Amino acid sequence: LTAVAAAYLTSDPTSFAYPTARTRWPVIITQAIDDAYRSVSASEDPEKHEEGKKIVAELVNLKYEVQHDRALTPIRDDGYPDVAIYNRELEQLGNPTWLNVSWLYSECYLFRRISTSFSLSTHWRNYDVFARQKIKTFLSSRPAVIELAARYKDLVTQLREGKSRGAPVDEEAERILFMEMCEICLWGNATDLSLLTSLTYEDIQKLQGSEARKAAEKNILINNLPAVYDLLVAAKKAGKKERQVDIVLDNAGFELYVDLILAGYLLSVGLATTVVLHPKSIPWFVSDVLPSDFASLLNALANPRHFYETPTEDDELQGKTPEPLSETEVDELSFLFQEWSGFHAEGQLRMRSNRVWTHPGSFWRLPHEDPELIEDLKASELVIFKGDLNYRKLVGDANWDPTTAFTTAIGPLGPGSGINVMALRTCKADVVVGLKPGEDEKLRETEGGGGDSGARKWAWNGKWAVVSFSKGT
Ligand code: F6P
Ligand code: MG
Repeated sequence: LTAVAAAYLTSDPTSFAYPTARTRWPVIITQAIDDAYRSVSASEDPEKHEEGKKIVAELVNLKYEVQHDRALTPIRDDGYPDVAIYNRELEQLGNPTWLNVSWLYSECYLFRRISTSFSLSTHWRNYDVFARQKIKTFLSSRPAVIELAARYKDLVTQLREGKSRGAPVDEEAERILFMEMCEICLWGNATDLSLLTSLTYEDIQKLQGSEARKAAEKNILINNLPAVYDLLVAAKKAGKKERQVDIVLDNAGFELYVDLILAGYLLSVGLATTVVLHPKSIPWFVSDVLPSDFASLLNALANPRHFYETPTEDDELQGKTPEPLSETEVDELSFLFQEWSGFHAEGQLRMRSNRVWTHPGSFWRLPHEDPELIEDLKASELVIFKGDLNYRKLVGDANWDPTTAFTTAIGPLGPGSGINVMALRTCKADVVVGLKPGEDEKLRETEGGGGDSGARKWAWNGKWAVVSFSKGT
């Protein structure tokens, strides 16, 4: 990969890596420090308290190292085999410093480093330092959650009624519905927590309503959804009994919620018979899904009143009481719980953890890193990669010419791999491929698009998206 395109570096003033390393990472670490401090202060067990203080001190130190451009130090051995992978690569990179290093490597390293502070402890081993933020943001997306729950219930009920009446299938309507479900799932990614260092909650809510979605369709620069739909329909029509769809997840909260909307829809209309979800195994890029986030989401839906009506720590501080849910709202949210927990119990909706997703570096390495996983993905009808980081990893976070074909940029996962890959990505970094000639130039000329600064700023803020597909055969 490095022979064909160069990696983005934190030292490059035209890359989003530059402000990310200097401004956004310190904010992210500070938030982790605040969260840990809060939990440490609340812990009454003296041993746990002492250990917690040490963790906070380590995080403070990490922030210092980043801001003072110190060298990245080897990851301490916490018993997981990826430590060796991280450290070997660190050596190969020539023991770089924070502000002059590959963006992709160093950002993965950052979260792996944070996780060791906890994983090496006794009392904080399974602590998720970003859980509070994830829950808080999910709570703030309540209007969109409720709107979608109502729409989903309506849809699934209609589908079932139609089926039981033996109503003919309107293929055009099905195609449009499929596109809409995928687009909901796509834009659910526009609001991840690592970008929230600059967005307000009001902005998030604006991004999430259905009006916003329609308006945003023109912002999908590449939309390969029709080809993906044809593929899933063809497999169904061919009478294939087992048809699996995999989703390599990105963020928890609202995004996971819309992932489940898509998964539930695919299962309900029979475009898939099983959906396998791939979460992360350590707290990752602030907002990414851990298995415990999946459990929390189902819990919230199982007891919507408890979830939405219990005052949060912040509510209590501000003397606020959350607005109660209406009967209908409770009913719609509970419907989702019934549906999804039903699929889960039947084994149609599964979670499969794999530490490979939190390795550093690109997915060009997957075939070599985990051949067994590759075999699994080959057996799948479609593998959906959600979000910006997964996209960066697919294309190696390298400085491709933006007109390079997606099928080329994903290297060994491209045609011939046997894997059908779809990326649903809102753009929050520099790299982008598959554009028409001249399109990048035009976007740079838009307001805030970067102009002649040499920076592809239009691609930094989640306003634009790409839905790219590569057929494995
Ligand atoms: O804003 C950039 C960024 O923090 C990247 O570092 C990372 O790729 C991305 O956001 C995380 O976004 P997502 O959750 O969509 O992968
Ligand atoms: Mg993420």
